[in-house]
Amino acid sequence: MASTPSNLPCHVAVIMDGNGRWAKERGLPRTEGHRAGAEKIRAIVEECNRLGIRYLTLYAFSAENWRRPQNEIRALMALLEFFLKRETSDLARNGVRLQAIGRLHNLPESCQRQLHASMEATAGGTGLTLVLALSYGGREEIVDGIKSLFRHIQEGHADIAMLDPEFFSKHLYTRYYPDPDLLIRTSGEMRLSNFLLWQLSYAEIVITRKFWPDFGQEDLHAALEEFASRQRRFGGV
Ligand code: IPE
Ligand code: IPE
Ligand code: MG
Repeated sequence: MASTPSNLPCHVAVIMDGNGRWAKERGLPRTEGHRAGAEKIRAIVEECNRLGIRYLTLYAFSAENWRRPQNEIRALMALLEFFLKRETSDLARNGVRLQAIGRLHNLPESCQRQLHASMEATAGGTGLTLVLALSYGGREEIVDGIKSLFRHIQEGHADIAMLDPEFFSKHLYTRYYPDPDLLIRTSGEMRLSNFLLWQLSYAEIVITRKFWPDFGQEDLHAALEEFASRQRRFGGV
């Protein structure tokens, strides 16, 4: 195993892409790619936790993914529920705290119930915070944030003059987490696909050509080494 990289990001965000292509390459149905992809999550979570990374946000299902065929959506939701059920006790034992962002009310009820049970069971975790982005869209989050801010102002808790980026960010789903320092996208696509549009302003971006089911701990290490070698300037000199 590679040595512990220096200059670790506090928050890593991952667009886990390429499950379908991984399956296609093998002549398998897309759902098999999702199953293989889901199996890869555990090793990445464990390694992030071991390294002392504080937050890991995984893009698991986008607001736009509801456009996929019904059978694929059903398979993804069943996988989500199965994995939450299977992994929760290990997450809790390892001190990983599970959280979720997105329009969670759009998920099937049994998924919502399992998700809330898993979050409750891991709420005391003091290690890695694992955030699942589910039925998540960056634009939807910003719109929901504006609605929340409006209500806040209407109820007399705030004044429009107080509005600045920091104040607004308190109305986003991610209000409890720092912005990601590093964004990893697998399978070579050079786009954000509506992921954390507000929060990724100054994230370092690492894109690997590997499909998500082939992404392992050594690929995580490579992305962390790449991150450590970058010079972040935040608009300064
Ligand atoms: C990512 O893999 C998983 C989800 C979006 C749920 P894809 O299913 O997008 O795989 P490709 O991009 O079609 O290969
Ligand atoms: C982004 O991947 C969403 C997730 C990984 C959950 P997509 O495969 O949906 O993105 P596009 O369609 O290639 O932009
Ligand atoms: Mg894709």
